[in-house]
Amino acid sequence: MENILQVRNLVKSFKDGDNFKKILNEINLDVPKGQFLSIIGESGAGKSTLVYQMSLLDVPTSGSISIFGKDTSGLNIKEQAKFRLNNFGYIFQDSALIKELNVLENVKLSLLAKGISNKKAEEMSKEILTKVGLGSMINRYPSEISGGEKQRVAISRAIVGKPSIVFADEPTANLDHVTSEKIMGELKKISDELKMTIIMITHELKYAQGADRIIEISDGNIISDSIIKK
Ligand SMILES: Nc1ncnc2c1ncn2[C@@H]1O[C@H](COP(=O)(O)OP(=O)(O)OP(=O)(O)O)[C@@H](O)[C@H]1O
Ligand SMILES: [Mg+2]
Repeated sequence: MENILQVRNLVKSFKDGDNFKKILNEINLDVPKGQFLSIIGESGAGKSTLVYQMSLLDVPTSGSISIFGKDTSGLNIKEQAKFRLNNFGYIFQDSALIKELNVLENVKLSLLAKGISNKKAEEMSKEILTKVGLGSMINRYPSEISGGEKQRVAISRAIVGKPSIVFADEPTANLDHVTSEKIMGELKKISDELKMTIIMITHELKYAQGADRIIEISDGNIISDSIIKK
């Protein structure tokens, strides 16, 4: 299968007092198109740091990240922002919704930023929100919906533009078990139906096992890499 993402000798160091501390230690990773990859590992292992580099939210210290076979290190800040807008969707721990905008507007926003007409953006957003069971809540504000519903809005916002890769950093961290299972089920359904590549950090092995593949990070290294047999 074609690789959508290729990481080579990726190093990320942060300043630690007078020295630099290596947080990612020469990571190599190939992600095939359409794969649902989960990343597990202890707190502080480097999971979020890895995802920030792969999703072009941060700049690696050395090494390369290629997407669709194209090395991204040559992109300037403006090109990177455009690349993210056109190709990536993001889901974070807290849903990071804009509180002044209602559910529909929150989902619509990235489409408008891409230059899609208001009418079309609204159509696409309503379709996704209906798919995740929020069709009747599109006019509510973030303060008027539950945590699980907020995460579903965040998922809708991440996938509405049909990005090539969705990055999720512990999307169920703040949710109870039942809601988490539902959210995971939704992500899984989306990855199957829309054939999107999903890269998801989770600290729950149970949720990681719903993916196609699990990698484990420890101390900045990939210490295991397994394909889940279904
Ligand atoms: N901007 C930064 N400056 C300095 N150190 C950082 C920075 N970002 C992360 N770190 C350090 O890098 C290490 C890895 O952090 P990271 O956030 O990637 O961990 P994680 O595996 O996502 O952990 P968690 O499960 O707690 O989210 C930690 O020791 C953290 O303190
Ligand atoms: Mg993290």
